Amino acid sequence: MSKDTDFIPSDYPETVASGSFEWSAPSNIALVKYWGKFEPQLPANPSVSFTLDTCKTVTKLEYKKRLNDGNFSFDLLFEGQPKEDFKPKILKFFERVEIYLPFLKAYHFTIDTRNTFPHSSGIASSASGMAALSVNLMSLEKALDPKISDDHFWKKASFLARLGSGSACRSVKGEVVVWGKHAGIPGSSDLFGVEFPFDVHPDFRNFQDTILLVEKGQKEVSSTVGHELMAGHPFAETRFEQAHSNLDKIRNALVSGDLEHFISIVESEALTLHAMMMTSNPYFILMKPNTLEIINRIWKFRRETGLPVCFTLDAGANVHLLYPENVVEKVLQFIKDELVAYCKNGEYLCDRIGSGAQNF
Ligand code: DP6
Repeated sequence: MSKDTDFIPSDYPETVASGSFEWSAPSNIALVKYWGKFEPQLPANPSVSFTLDTCKTVTKLEYKKRLNDGNFSFDLLFEGQPKEDFKPKILKFFERVEIYLPFLKAYHFTIDTRNTFPHSSGIASSASGMAALSVNLMSLEKALDPKISDDHFWKKASFLARLGSGSACRSVKGEVVVWGKHAGIPGSSDLFGVEFPFDVHPDFRNFQDTILLVEKGQKEVSSTVGHELMAGHPFAETRFEQAHSNLDKIRNALVSGDLEHFISIVESEALTLHAMMMTSNPYFILMKPNTLEIINRIWKFRRETGLPVCFTLDAGANVHLLYPENVVEKVLQFIKDELVAYCKNGEYLCDRIGSGAQNF
């Protein structure tokens, strides 16, 4: 059983003066949702996600040894340009992880980051961004202590990413990742994400996620506020228990290839997430009329064609359409014929299940 103290390093055997690393990390889409957390960034219930492939953040970390003056020192560039508004989030992250990365104040960093998905597409870059930064920082720790095992490297990268943004801990590895202690998932932990420890049925190979962009730009209520509203929520305990039981069910569906069960759990999770928002105090709604139009069209299409297509939602109005690879053509035609009309400027992004962070 891992404890957070396992991630506090002892003295580093090497010294490293300057250099750079570059990693990409993808976004992920939860099937069983994380909604509700405790300090320090521990989930109220376990969750499971598909790691995505093309929607990702690419981050270059340049480091240069400096005199430790007791402060953090870094520049933040977004697409090559200084981006001051991202700095407070990174500073908060550095403060949170300093105990686990005691070298942080001994370097000046230049963090140069970009996303492969369009600016303000409404896709949160905190998961991919925090995951990409965390893996870079682990590369530096590995240079300072080359004996770090692969297992520790990846666990700690996910552990650090979690402290940046909860769902980011599921973006370090692929293809199916569980975060949060669950009786039916050996090795699962509240501290970091783990790869799904069973063989996933071949029908989920190269599973597709087409993201229908209903609403672009900033969300009205942040996930962080939403999580907080689960404290004292009248349905919280039942919801947390339900997530445990849904994780059991979806584990079985992922292993057996039972798409019908998979669909019923995934869609129920999406609607439950939004039901929690609508029943919190204060209450709020992140779905838009076009979100509901799309959901109804998907249900009609599924009824009429029998094709195993379903939707999920994250904390926003966009709809993720999930389906197996062997129905890609029919589903893309359906999207063009019926769903683009409900997308902002007709935009959607085609993604699929992917394998996690990559080094350049
Ligand atoms: C609805 O990970 O963005 O997407 O931990 O506060 O950074 P913080 O929240 P975040 O919450 C994601 C919530 C979700 C569900 C999920 O991804 O499991």
